[in-house]
Amino acid sequence: MAGEKHAILAELESLVSECRHSLDQASSLEGLEEARIAFLGRKGRLAAAMAEMVGLSKEDRPEVGRKANDVKAALTELLESHQSLLNRNKADAKVRGFDPSVPPRSPWGGSMHPVSLVSQEICDVFKKLGFDIVSGPEVENDWHNFEALNIPPDHPARDMQDTLYVTDNILLRTHTSPLQVRTMLEQQPPVAVIAPGKVYRRDSDLTHTPMFDQIEGLLVDTKTTMSDLRGILRHMCREVFNTDIKLRFRPSFFPFTEPSAEVDISCVMCGGKGTVGGKPCRVCKQTGWIEILGCGMVDPNVYGYVGYDPDKYVGWAFGLGVERVAMLKYGIGDLRMFFENDVRFLRQFS
Ligand code: PHE
Repeated sequence: MAGEKHAILAELESLVSECRHSLDQASSLEGLEEARIAFLGRKGRLAAAMAEMVGLSKEDRPEVGRKANDVKAALTELLESHQSLLNRNKADAKVRGFDPSVPPRSPWGGSMHPVSLVSQEICDVFKKLGFDIVSGPEVENDWHNFEALNIPPDHPARDMQDTLYVTDNILLRTHTSPLQVRTMLEQQPPVAVIAPGKVYRRDSDLTHTPMFDQIEGLLVDTKTTMSDLRGILRHMCREVFNTDIKLRFRPSFFPFTEPSAEVDISCVMCGGKGTVGGKPCRVCKQTGWIEILGCGMVDPNVYGYVGYDPDKYVGWAFGLGVERVAMLKYGIGDLRMFFENDVRFLRQFS
């Protein structure tokens, strides 16, 4: 009898350490539940040990019963504390999903504006040909912007309707051509300069903005012809558009060049065909050509204003619209894109 009591007490005693051992292996809530059933379940180890008590004497039962209750309490506490440990680990794992050592997504470092990209590219072409880059003020006076360029006082460009005036005599330059004047005043021939810059006109609709970008080119020497100009412009277009683009010179008029021409390039959208996939080309309006610049041989009258000898020197100049070229180069259909500064648009030029 007494042996049986001790055997049951020993069994009860071992349950706690065995349960602890099982829980050490139980890393999931499922494993925990298995251990609970094995030790505290209706057919578990504790229940089995208590069933043994039936054979005990009346005197032995209370002691074994007390022990059984203690063991039950100890097992319950073990299981509960293991459960909260598992829950805590789970929560920690969630927090660990945020790993502070992972390097952050690198921020967008910004990019060149497409107009700046094209402007720089064009200037680079001329730099390689030996041209110097020059610049000048956007706020100009009448003399540099108009008078020295042989633009008569009654010329429509001088009208308040077209020009943004600061005072009667001071204005926002309407083209980069005053840089021809400034260059010739400062340098003696031979000169070969390229002058990118912003220009301003009282103009605002779908295809015109009050500010836009031009690039002026000027070459003056003792001998040069319009065919030099043509060859250089063709070279520039091929470099910028990377295709065998065609150029067309149309007779035109500028007070500061004679003869003058406007230059069209074959439409890059439709390849000069005038149609895209059977539909009329929107970009060249079915003509197959797009105007990109004005040019001509420097009018001898201009040499008079800057002190060059018109019998000794000849030269040519051109003024090109940069937005126009950027639209063609990147296939941008709407001028407003350049000024809205939508990062989704600008990002594409990274
Ligand atoms: N300045 C002219 C314009 O803005 C372009 C041009 C430049 C024409 C140089 C001839 C020579 O339209």
